[in-house]
Amino acid sequence: MISRRTSRAIAALLGLALLVGLGYALRWRSNPSPCPYAQRHAIDLPRPVITRSRLRSVLEPRAGERILEVGSGTGYYTGMVARAIEPSGTLHAVDVQPEMVEHLRTRMRAEENSNVEPICGDARSLPYPDNTFDAAYLILVLGEIPDQERALDELNRVLKPDGRLVVGEALPDPHFVRFERLRRRVERRGLKFEDRIGTRAGYFARFDADVSEQSADPVE
Ligand SMILES: C[S@@+](CC[C@H](N)C(=O)[O-])C[C@H]1O[C@@H](n2cnc3c(N)ncnc32)[C@H](O)[C@@H]1O
Repeated sequence: MISRRTSRAIAALLGLALLVGLGYALRWRSNPSPCPYAQRHAIDLPRPVITRSRLRSVLEPRAGERILEVGSGTGYYTGMVARAIEPSGTLHAVDVQPEMVEHLRTRMRAEENSNVEPICGDARSLPYPDNTFDAAYLILVLGEIPDQERALDELNRVLKPDGRLVVGEALPDPHFVRFERLRRRVERRGLKFEDRIGTRAGYFARFDADVSEQSADPVE
């Protein structure tokens, strides 16, 4: 039997832990920063909602395509997408942390994926010319970027006029980006919302460059 005093102490401790956790989460949200390499094991855990097969069905990678992955981390999705665009497609994987890039390089070598090109770079200033990619995706990344608007501009710039963009987000990531907010910001750039898989708490959202609008003759 626990005494009333002990149970009050336990409740107070739990409340304190909750407040501290909340404080950390709020601090993370207001100071976006890359998930440290030391925490890489957390991003390798199985994902019940934002699964590889769901990414594949929403991204629709096709043989021969040139695809961009931003914030590839340890490569949870990289191998699957790389294999889907074989034999002549290339997957360019950009991450801002050199340790993540090296980790991915080693993993791709071990998995014999020779069509992945990992490089160190920043989503806010992508090292590619305009209109380069058939598709781009970023999973659990956008909220870590200090200037998300600039990153979205960059993604829009490097996508081909008929390119597609997939963004994945899931709780309890402290940098979680809500779907409604994401949709407004992406659509402002002229990309059209196409599909969403999952729930409000974990989803993949796909946006397509609206070719019909872009190629329409200007009305006099
Ligand atoms: C939470 S991890 C997710 C990794 C991977 N997308 C996954 O789902 O397993 C976020 C990754 O985004 C990278 N990242 C954060 N900010 C970035 C930026 N500005 N440019 C490129 N990569 C960035 C981090 O280094 C980290 O590897």
